Amino acid sequence: MDRANYYETDRALAEYLLFHYCCPEDALPANVVSAGALNFLSRCVGECLQLEQLPAKARALDLGCAVGRATFELARHCVEVVGIDYSGRFITIAGHLRKNGSFLFGCIDEGDLTRPCQAVVPTDIDRTRVRFERGDAMDLPADLGGFDVVLMANLIDRLHDPRRCLNRLPDLLNRGGQLIITSPYTWQPEYTPKENWLGGFERDGKRVRTTDTLKEILAPHFQFSQSRNLPFLIREHARKFQLGVAEASVWIRK
Ligand SMILES: C[S@@+](CC[C@H](N)C(=O)[O-])C[C@H]1O[C@@H](n2cnc3c(N)ncnc32)[C@H](O)[C@@H]1O
Repeated sequence: MDRANYYETDRALAEYLLFHYCCPEDALPANVVSAGALNFLSRCVGECLQLEQLPAKARALDLGCAVGRATFELARHCVEVVGIDYSGRFITIAGHLRKNGSFLFGCIDEGDLTRPCQAVVPTDIDRTRVRFERGDAMDLPADLGGFDVVLMANLIDRLHDPRRCLNRLPDLLNRGGQLIITSPYTWQPEYTPKENWLGGFERDGKRVRTTDTLKEILAPHFQFSQSRNLPFLIREHARKFQLGVAEASVWIRK
């Protein structure tokens, strides 16, 4: 299968619904400790967003929103939030969650065996503040307007040409606006041709790291604010998990 189409599959949908919405009892066997890696999307917003810098009536954009959990979390603090993802499947289900507040699905236990699970948007979030659109982060519509927050959670290493997306950011963020980029920097040629990787290779005998390339690309328009490690756990099936540690960096539009 073309890796880029993975995000349209049943498997990815169930994996991401569980990743975004479900409680620890759904995600992990009872005696496995890894609570610090759960609720990644709410931690992306809760630990990275600088609330005191937000204007009243802030607008936010969640690029590569998948099934929308961080988009909803941003709506706790921003009056309008747009979630954009390339997967039509993800956007359809995110729209269903916006309308109904919950979605029933089967999560994989073993092989073809699934069990029913429910994704639920926290009831204290105003879902009417959110809208979802299918779109390409490397070719965004010209009329999106300006944002006070742009979140790109675990997106850059899934793009064919991450620089194209990064180059549009100065135009998308209002002055003083916050850019939050998280990524485990899992560069893979199936998603990003090697010539477009931002790091993870040697050039002229020097080791190139994504974090340094991001600084180079963003520095003319953004002030680096802070970075931190954000662990995350994606459940593949009842006995298999991916543990990642994203680097989350926050940048302020000059
Ligand atoms: C690793 S997932 C991360 C999803 C979500 N932000 C999270 O942290 O769970 C990557 C997401 O990027 C989306 N994506 C991939 N290429 C994209 C593109 N060109 N434009 C917008 N979204 C894209 C995928 O459909 C998928 O939802």
